[in-house]
Amino acid sequence: MFRDEKLKDAPAPLPIALHGEAILRQTAIEVRQFDAELTHLAEQMSASMLAAKGVGIAAPQIHSPLAMFIMASRPNDRYPDAPHMAPVVVVNPQILNASSELNAGEEGCLSVPGQRFVIQRHEKIEVRYQNLQGEWQQGELSGFIARIFQHEFDHLQGITLLERSQMPEQQPNLRKEVVQNQVSLKHTAKEGNAQ
Ligand code: NI
Repeated sequence: MFRDEKLKDAPAPLPIALHGEAILRQTAIEVRQFDAELTHLAEQMSASMLAAKGVGIAAPQIHSPLAMFIMASRPNDRYPDAPHMAPVVVVNPQILNASSELNAGEEGCLSVPGQRFVIQRHEKIEVRYQNLQGEWQQGELSGFIARIFQHEFDHLQGITLLERSQMPEQQPNLRKEVVQNQVSLKHTAKEGNAQ
């Protein structure tokens, strides 16, 4: 688990990658080493997220290529109705299932500053991921927490809010043909994309 006491020694916040930077267009790389370095990266992500008043952050947003994000919903100026939750570090996430019920809601992104988009997301998703110790976790998420998960999951596929808002029929994470087409188009000029 992510331990709150570690936040006291949190490292300095890092600059957030902005839409258009190459790191935000890449498919993230699977995490294989669950070690002190990974914990340090999580702490850097947390510090950067808190400094920017985000409710979530993905590793590529602080220029790391790893498949990892943090969800940390709490009410703030931008999301006054957000539920409180203890921060969760999500490594190597998968969306196993998603409700056909969609929900439209406003989203912002630290990498697309000053802009808000109404985005359709699955109301409920069944997810699987590893924690910082490499242990697999599985569960169902709904509402705003499910929205954060889907937003951050997009980042790990090289999709920012800006691209998501422009997708035809805008959405579902499970509509892989749409997502993967867009990703592969963007990646044709790149090399060495990890799975
Ligand atoms: Ni974002």
